[in-house]
Amino acid sequence: MDSSTSLETLLLCADRDAGERDIAPPLHLSVPFASLFDESAEVSGAPHSDRFYRRYGHPTQTRLEKVMSAAEGAEAALATASGMGAISTALLALLSQGDHVIGQRSMYAGTLSLLQDLAPRLGIHVSLVDQTDPSAFEQAVTHATKLIMVETPSNPLLHLTDLAAVSALAKEHGIVTIADNTVATPVNQHPLELGIDLVVHSLTKAASGHSDALAGIIAGAESLIDVMRRTHVLLGSVISPFDAWLTLRGLRTMLMRVEKHNRNALAVARFLAAHPRIAAVHYPGLSDHPQHALAVGQSSGFGGLLSFEICGGKTAAEGLLSSLRIPANSASLGGTRSLAVRPAAMWTRELTENQSAEAGLSPGLVRFAVGLEQEDDLIADLGQALDSLPAE
Ligand SMILES: Cc1ncc(COP(=O)(O)O)c(C=O)c1O
Repeated sequence: MDSSTSLETLLLCADRDAGERDIAPPLHLSVPFASLFDESAEVSGAPHSDRFYRRYGHPTQTRLEKVMSAAEGAEAALATASGMGAISTALLALLSQGDHVIGQRSMYAGTLSLLQDLAPRLGIHVSLVDQTDPSAFEQAVTHATKLIMVETPSNPLLHLTDLAAVSALAKEHGIVTIADNTVATPVNQHPLELGIDLVVHSLTKAASGHSDALAGIIAGAESLIDVMRRTHVLLGSVISPFDAWLTLRGLRTMLMRVEKHNRNALAVARFLAAHPRIAAVHYPGLSDHPQHALAVGQSSGFGGLLSFEICGGKTAAEGLLSSLRIPANSASLGGTRSLAVRPAAMWTRELTENQSAEAGLSPGLVRFAVGLEQEDDLIADLGQALDSLPAE
């Protein structure tokens, strides 16, 4: 495969070995591997082998890493047991006591909790900024800043970060950048092309795509992924062979599924934006979204996640969720079936009430992750659920 190979072909072929006879990949369950262990190699901080002991890597993991590094245009990738496994491994590999990290006010709640609760316990200082203002990142830089961690679009508010501006700033100050590309997926956005150092994903979402695999990935330059691997074997956030296998299987069809998500989400967002019971719709694909121009400039599609504020706040949002017939009232996103949830209710374990308010999670905010259903059916269902709400 060379650099001209298209994403759809890479997703199908980037892990194939010459001479291989299996069409579907085999599943390797062994934990130790015999004879291939090179006794001269140092085991701790070992040179990468996927046939030594499963915590250090395994053949199904390697195939997943090949596909995801190709999809992201990266030199190398490290698969992990979950998206949080990828994010925590990356942060712990790069940061030490006394270091400073810049994150965003709007991010996935687990990442926010890691930054706001766990990092300070390790003596790591954290600033959270308004990602919609590139100068906010610059103002937050200190002599101790080692890392800028961004998520764009952010979950669940769909705020965008100007990836080229943040990576240019970081390079000027010798700061490493990480972008969580889960919501966009490599179908819609390539942060590495815009100068970001590392991309992380929850592959649990649209990448695996069927709500049955838990997986994560870190992708970037070989030298940085080597640093990640050394921390990873110690933390042990290892993806199981079956989750790697399911994720690999999901990736084969990611492009078609995400294109359908893009179409469904735009149709749903337009319907909601025109509905009198909806106070605000957050979706960068809408032409009046405050960051629509940035979305068009740095991505080729707008993704399957949107959120909205409903008139009548928490009570109306709860009424809507209980009247919807197609989406399940559930966590997660990027699957085959639409999922709708009130983030303020879902993330009470990760965020205190104050942290939740600071992250912009109002009680009437509903997050809607479209699935692969027919768009008219989704719109009809939302319409009947909104019509069933008592008049204000
Ligand atoms: C943007 C984003 N990043 C990371 C994660 C964590 O992923 P996982 O559940 O696979 O650990 C999530 C989970 O919802 C997410 O939405």
